[in-house]
Amino acid sequence: MESIFVSTNEIEKQKAIAGELRGICAGKKAAVKTYGCQQNEADSERIAGTLMLCGYEIIDDETEADLVIVNTCAVREHAELKILSSTGRLKNKKEKNRDMLIGICGCMAQEKHRVEQILKSYTFIDFIFGTDMHHRLPEILQTVISTRKRQVFVNEKKHNEFGVISEDMPVLRQSDYKAWVSIMYGCNNFCSYCIVPYVRGRERSRSYHEIMKEVRGLVADGYKDITLLGQNVNSYSGEKDFPHLLEDIAKIDGDFWVRFTTSHPKDVSSELIDIIAANEKIARHFHLPFQAGNDRILSLMNRRYTKQQYIEKALEIKEKIKGVSITTDVICGFPTETEEDFLDTLDVVKTVGFDMIFTFVYSPRKGTPAASMEGQVPHDEKVRRFNALSELQNENALKNNQKFIGQTLKVLTDGLNNGTYTGRCSQNKVVVLDKPVEKGVFVNAEIIDAQPYLLIGKIK
Ligand code: SAH
Ligand code: SF4
Ligand code: F3S
Repeated sequence: MESIFVSTNEIEKQKAIAGELRGICAGKKAAVKTYGCQQNEADSERIAGTLMLCGYEIIDDETEADLVIVNTCAVREHAELKILSSTGRLKNKKEKNRDMLIGICGCMAQEKHRVEQILKSYTFIDFIFGTDMHHRLPEILQTVISTRKRQVFVNEKKHNEFGVISEDMPVLRQSDYKAWVSIMYGCNNFCSYCIVPYVRGRERSRSYHEIMKEVRGLVADGYKDITLLGQNVNSYSGEKDFPHLLEDIAKIDGDFWVRFTTSHPKDVSSELIDIIAANEKIARHFHLPFQAGNDRILSLMNRRYTKQQYIEKALEIKEKIKGVSITTDVICGFPTETEEDFLDTLDVVKTVGFDMIFTFVYSPRKGTPAASMEGQVPHDEKVRRFNALSELQNENALKNNQKFIGQTLKVLTDGLNNGTYTGRCSQNKVVVLDKPVEKGVFVNAEIIDAQPYLLIGKIK
């Protein structure tokens, strides 16, 4: 089988092309617009790093840029439509600046029907590249610039066969105190509603040594909050497994927190929970999506756990990791979900008492098994369930936050946001601070009040 690791020769070749491009692109401006999850944020930082290597100055405002790269998300229909309409607005800009280049990448670029749609109806888009083509960006740009013809660089292999890992391309990080570190890519879980395995390819893990090297470098550079990323970090399989990777990171000298997302409930082991409980550097926050409470729906979703198993795991986390916050994702109105089935979802919410829930209305994704299931739930009904869940959750969130009143928490500051100084605690909750503070430092704050999604803190 072909190696999943891109060879050093290939990376050197791309860097050499970037060097050639510098003559042409120096002085030009590029912007990367990012939609979707943290994986996309992390990818965009690599794309920006590569563009800088090609000579571009990176700016935020895409309307001022000579090159715009739109990094897309395909997880729900609504996300896709939003991206298409805001990308459509760049057309006017391009009419005024004929030399402007626009590229589309990310998860939508891996959907065949979207690529066809873009080629047909979005004629101002100059190039499209897939989720495992990032390291080839210098070559892609050189081809686009030299041919002045539209280009598509998308892997045509089957979803369970494509996907590579490339090390050593530059990264331009957005923050100088919070960092993303991808530890694995792709997903092999195939939850029946989800497009991710089809657009992100086969599951693959970076080497343990590469990850350790990157994290040590970040800590040495003063990063205080490091998030390990993967669609299911528990299936990490480098030279060590995920719990031990996490444990080794927590042993690195320095004042920092390490976080991770996302965990699949079926794979969270007691060993992982014990390691977190024993290491203060591992943040007191678990994002543990349960998606639905009813066993029949969970089985149709291909989640491979029952309501009872989920609840037991969540309660074990709460019991062993003192002060932990648990957040989750829920889908309302999966095909055939009845009102009674939905009551099981509400029951999980009541039993576990989440700190935050990200609720989604089920969105059929072309090519996934659930999209062609019978018994699709009417939109109004999905929204009604969505609202019922939000109402219940708001009460829970307030109760959870009130427990922190009187405690002193360590807070990593985020500076001034919308007129107030804020930060985040280990539980990843926003803490409003009473005094001006610079970004990226740890302070201790006594919690004096609480709202459902905010803590109010007094710096000590
Ligand atoms: N790998 C992560 C996240 C995947 S996408 C995980 O397994 O948790 C993030 C969230 O989007 C999912 O947890 C799910 O709640 C939601 N989601 C995915 N596909 C969806 C769909 N077709 N309709 C509505 N929500 C969806
Ligand atoms: Fe999608 Fe399931 Fe994989 Fe998460 S674990 S990315 S929900 S298929
Ligand atoms: Fe969206 Fe792709 Fe992430 S579909 S949620 S950007 S993996």
